[in-house]
Amino acid sequence: MATVYHDDAPSAERGTIFVSTEVPLSAIEVEHLTKHYQVHRRPAGFVAAVRSLFSRKFETVHAVEDLSFQIQPGERVGFLGPNGAGKTTTLKVLSGLLHPTAGVVRVAGHNPRKREVEFLKKITLVMGQKQQLLWDLPPVETFAMNRALYDVPRDAYQEVSKELYELLDLELLATKPTRQLSLGERMKCELAAALLHRPKLLFLDEPTIGLDVSMQASMRGFIREYNERHGATVLLTSHYMEDVAALCPRVIVIDHGRLIYDGDLKALTRKVNPDKLVTVRLAAPVAPKDAARLGQVIEHDEARLVLRVTQAELGGVVSALLATMRVADLSVEDPPLVDVMRQLFAESRSGSNGNAMPAEESLEDRA
Ligand SMILES: Nc1ncnc2c1ncn2[C@@H]1O[C@H](COP(=O)(O)OP(=O)(O)O)[C@@H](O)[C@H]1O
Ligand SMILES: [Mg+2]
Repeated sequence: MATVYHDDAPSAERGTIFVSTEVPLSAIEVEHLTKHYQVHRRPAGFVAAVRSLFSRKFETVHAVEDLSFQIQPGERVGFLGPNGAGKTTTLKVLSGLLHPTAGVVRVAGHNPRKREVEFLKKITLVMGQKQQLLWDLPPVETFAMNRALYDVPRDAYQEVSKELYELLDLELLATKPTRQLSLGERMKCELAAALLHRPKLLFLDEPTIGLDVSMQASMRGFIREYNERHGATVLLTSHYMEDVAALCPRVIVIDHGRLIYDGDLKALTRKVNPDKLVTVRLAAPVAPKDAARLGQVIEHDEARLVLRVTQAELGGVVSALLATMRVADLSVEDPPLVDVMRQLFAESRSGSNGNAMPAEESLEDRA
């Protein structure tokens, strides 16, 4: 496919139009993707199970329904939705592991279901719940195997592994047997193994699951660095909202396999939840009833007060705080993304079928 794109680099060449046969306009194009699974419901009990051998009952699981979006090269996009929303299914379709029931998918100009070698060399799929490292051998063995599988020339391999070793701090890890590594260390090696062929498209499915906060942060730093250095496109699912907030300017949100939001993460926060969190460091204690008069109290102790207030009330509340309390410090923030998402799902469900998600059921519980 011939593609036209504008150069945005040196000013002398600005406006030059390159025609490339390799780089498609969108890195990922998904049009009306639908994926259904046929599942055999096995009834409980021996007799019923035997009977079901003769008259099998199938049910259709509607994992993805009429989903459309496009992602441009170099974007970092968060792919969000409660557990069972269809995220992993979509990533598997994009990687060519599953065939769509209906709809058209193009990834880096390829039809993923053909699993062409050229396509496989451009992508990687990392699943936090699955591992490709060989358990009893050191990660370097898996790296060497992947080098051979992806046919990476030795000098390119030297360069890429040097970079990955530095960025991920692998020097001491890569030669220990995988089973001796901590989860976080293993995940770093998993990422390295998945990136040795320097893919341009990264499908990351819960890459930070189970990692502690500092390891999550270092993974995020690495993903960003890889994206910026190589202009790689990143589509990331994570139920740690901090990952998404820190990495992805854009989010695609699905629920029950259907798109419910695609766009700017900040705009989503504004659209869904205009409330603000006002955090006050108190120079002198405040009576609970005085705090409650100003807004919804989220946290309160002698030295700290956190209030949730609507955008409209914000100015008045801040003035009242400063006028009536001894304030050492004050900050105003958006509520955590997880609250924003919970409200978005509740709104979309009550809008579509009047069946709002229970308030106590957080995105974390479901993911
Ligand atoms: N191999 C499968 N066979 C049958 N149903 C499946 C299969 N994989 C996933 N599903 C179902 O499809 C829906 C979407 O699952 P999934 O894509 O894993 O969601 P997510 O990654 O957002 O949690 C769920 O209802 C899940 O139970
Ligand atoms: Mg999943």
